[in-house]
This record gives sequence, C-alpha cells and structure tokens, in this order.
Amino acid sequence: MIKSVELSKAYRLLNHGPTVLISSRHAGKHNVMAAAWNMPLDFEPPKIAIVVDKNTYTRELIEASGSFAINVPCRAQAEVVVKVGSSNGRELLKKEANNKFLAFDLPTFAASKIEAPLLESCIAWLECKVIAEPHIQDTYDLFLAEVVAAQADSRVFSDGHWHFEEHDELRTIHHIAGGSFMAIGEAFKI
Ligand SMILES: Cc1cc2nc3c(=O)[nH]c(=O)nc-3n(C[C@H](O)[C@H](O)[C@H](O)COP(=O)(O)O)c2cc1C
Repeated sequence: MIKSVELSKAYRLLNHGPTVLISSRHAGKHNVMAAAWNMPLDFEPPKIAIVVDKNTYTRELIEASGSFAINVPCRAQAEVVVKVGSSNGRELLKKEANNKFLAFDLPTFAASKIEAPLLESCIAWLECKVIAEPHIQDTYDLFLAEVVAAQADSRVFSDGHWHFEEHDELRTIHHIAGGSFMAIGEAFKI
C-alpha cells in the first residue's frame, strides 16, 4: 500500500496543514513527538518548516543527527498523537520501556535516507534533513529542512492528490487546542 511519492509532489503531503508526528534518532536513541506547527516551504527541492520547542527531547536528537521524519497520522491515531505529544522521551530513558515506541507499542519501519524510524499506520512520511539556520532555530524554535524522500498510503494519496472519501478513519487530523481536533473534510475543486 505504501508507494513512493515524487519529490516534486512531496509538498502536497503537508499542504493541508495536518498535525504530524516528528520521529528522530541519534546514537541508538529514538523518539517521537506531536507537532501541529508545520508547513511546506518550497517546491524544488522540497523544503518544509517546523517548530520544535527547546525543551523537547526531539530537539536534542534533531540537533545531534541533523535529520528527522515527519509522519502524517490519521483519525484512527488521535490517541497516539496526544500520548506522544504529552510525554517526554527524556524521562522515559530511565524506565524499562525506555522510549515512546516501546511504551506506547508503536511499530515502526526503516526510512530510506535518514536514521529516524517511520511509524506504521500513518498515511504519509517525509524524510527530512535539517538546513542549519542557527539564528531562527535559537530565536523561534523554527527548523527548516529539505525533504529527501517521501512516501504515502496509496489508498488516500495517489497521482499527487489526497482522496479520503472512502476512508474516514484515514483522514488527517488538525489540532485546535487541548484535546480538540478536526478531521479533514470534503474535497472540492474550483
Ligand atoms: C496536538 C499537539 C500538537 C503539538 N504541536 C507542537 C509543535 O508544533 N511544536 C512543539 O514544539 N511542540 C508541540 N507539541 C508538544 C510536544 O509534542 C510535546 O512537548 C512532547 O511531549 C515533546 O516530546 P519529547 O520531549 O519526547 O520530544 C504538540 C503537542 C500536541 C498534543
């Protein structure tokens, strides 16, 4: 079901502003957090921007590895989004289930160009390499990155377009505040 997405179309995997999961790995340690503040930035080569707070463990792993993955979750994963978005990977290091993938039973598969694991059951994945911009990272917690590989679930993304009509549980989710989300609505053309 998972098919490669042309890099020239990779921006369309984020163009509708979903809440995403950022996965990261460095020196054998891996982690995942939720991020609502993300956006496409450029077409060719595709680039994205994402806000990663200084206090997160994810930030530490991204800065150390220079890469991360954006996993686009769906309606069926809303609880997982809240769990990984309200727990701290650094604190789990001391526990027996010492990372969120183990603690929350989140299966992963390997990325093709970066070390960060990709989460199964998401509907799109963008492998990203950080474009170092220390000033905006330090001042705004804003990271720019080039998308070096992208994949999507062909049930809902094919020929460069999303189509969720027959898959309510696979609709992207959009964070409002607290535990409030919206699932993406109907498609239309003008
Ligand atoms: C729905 C949702 C959206 C979030 N969006 C962001 C975001 O855009 N940027 C950010 O830095 N934190 C965001 N957070 C908070 C992080 O996911 C949270 O701080 C997480 O515990 C960090 O995990 P870590 O310390 O293991 O990296 C969000 C949380 C939730 C639940």
